[in-house]
Amino acid sequence: MGNSMTALCALAKDAKARTIETLFDDSKRAVNFSVDAAGIFLDYAKQNLVQSERDDLCHWAKTQGLDQYIEKMFSGERINQTENRAVLHPLLRAPEKEKKAVLGTQAAEVIATEQKMSQLVNDISHGQYCTVNGQKFTDVLAIGIGGSYYGIKLGISALKPYHTTGLNVHVLANVDGDAVAEKLALLSAETTLVVVISKTFTTQETMLNAVAVKQWMLTHVAQPNIIARHWFAVSTNITAVTQFGITKDNILPMWDWVGGRFSLWSAVGFPLALAIGEQGFAQLKRGAYLMDQHFRQAPFDQNMPIVMALTGLWNRNALGYSSLAILPYNHALRALPGYLQQTDMESNGKSVSLQGEKLGWHTAPIVFGQEGTNSQHAFMQLMHQSEEIIPTDFIVCAQGHHDYSKHQQVLVANCLAQSEALMRGKTFAQAKAELMANGKSEQQAEALALHKVMKGNTPSNTLVLKQLTPKTLGALLALYEHKIFVQGVLWQLNSFDQWGVELGKELGAQILRAMNDNLSDDLSSSTLSLIKRIKQLSDK
Ligand code: F6P
Repeated sequence: MGNSMTALCALAKDAKARTIETLFDDSKRAVNFSVDAAGIFLDYAKQNLVQSERDDLCHWAKTQGLDQYIEKMFSGERINQTENRAVLHPLLRAPEKEKKAVLGTQAAEVIATEQKMSQLVNDISHGQYCTVNGQKFTDVLAIGIGGSYYGIKLGISALKPYHTTGLNVHVLANVDGDAVAEKLALLSAETTLVVVISKTFTTQETMLNAVAVKQWMLTHVAQPNIIARHWFAVSTNITAVTQFGITKDNILPMWDWVGGRFSLWSAVGFPLALAIGEQGFAQLKRGAYLMDQHFRQAPFDQNMPIVMALTGLWNRNALGYSSLAILPYNHALRALPGYLQQTDMESNGKSVSLQGEKLGWHTAPIVFGQEGTNSQHAFMQLMHQSEEIIPTDFIVCAQGHHDYSKHQQVLVANCLAQSEALMRGKTFAQAKAELMANGKSEQQAEALALHKVMKGNTPSNTLVLKQLTPKTLGALLALYEHKIFVQGVLWQLNSFDQWGVELGKELGAQILRAMNDNLSDDLSSSTLSLIKRIKQLSDK
């Protein structure tokens, strides 16, 4: 693999010496560098890649055993080797028949959980399952963090026009008292249903928040059985959930073959389903399933997740670009960059191979982004004029859910303009000519022109959706899940563990002890002095 990665990088010799714009001499480029699947259209003609290089990349991926890896995932092999687990989140959106074929007897538990969740969503939204005082629930508070939070947060904001149940769903993640206070100020304890989502049911932030919210509810409603009625949990740790006071009947199980950041399709999606209804949630899964089918069946060069993975790898390893900007030109998708930061960077931000050897190549890009056009008035200056080339994924919908047709046109025009501008750039000569055409003298134009040069040659993908619906959102998320999986396979790492979060947790516990006991623990003088300073400042 080491050598083959070197060979792959050597392929980019020509790419480094050319500009993307020149590739459009090929009149069929836009057609040949696009894929249409599961309600999503991908244009990747603005990548710095020609057909022969794409063929080489696809061939290389085959020699790395990608076909077999894809089937290993879908068939339930334990490809998460460091945790000895299968990776079967796609199965959660597959028809029952496929579940039974892969899971055998365990399929019954999975199907029963789905049915229980659908029933609960119906009962709660229609008021059949009601509050301890016999009222209809008005609000849902989902408490969780990381993979037990981002997907719900994204789904809630992305699918606002599909909130059909009348329930207001809120999310609480951060271990910040202000965040707790802010949420609770919006809620009435009497009519709020709480869902604690934690695979392990030990995560510090989630547990502290759950205890605080439980205390709040018990203080506001003098009914000792309110917790048993109003609280649900989604977890694998049934013992810890029941010890917390949530009844067994109100637990929706998870399985160790569903990783947190890929878990929206499981009962983790319960709060989202409580907003978009059982049918909306089924559509979300349906869209993801369509993308799964495409991923499993399409040839590599027409396979959207594989093409995106390979162009991403080309940009990261062969061309040496270290970042990836996610720019949805869609207000509803404003939480997508944060969601993908976790999915991509927590999955592939690693430097050791599956065999435990140090990798000789870079892995996950630094993912960042913001909704357009806001991003244009923030960090995109750097994308146009710094020396950094930042590959970008633009995401745009042909239709919004509103009647502001002029807004829609301007939004789309800005999206397309940015991908064009990032690719074309502006030369010194062009900038100078423009300035002179606008009445500047040659001397004045020369003085200013350098400031107006834009480097161009920035590769981008543009993903087009007809409209953001539960189904197309499902397909979009599955697309990125599979892209990240393919990249992990080709980088030869385990995309499904996250040991990197552990050291911070350990030191967090140590620092908490030092803060409470005034111990001068084994910490740097910087941290010890910061503890001292913060303690002084926190004295009221
Ligand atoms: O960020 C680390 C992590 O373990 C994620 O993988 C996970 O989604 C999150 O913390 C929350 O974990 P849990 O669902 O167990 O509370």
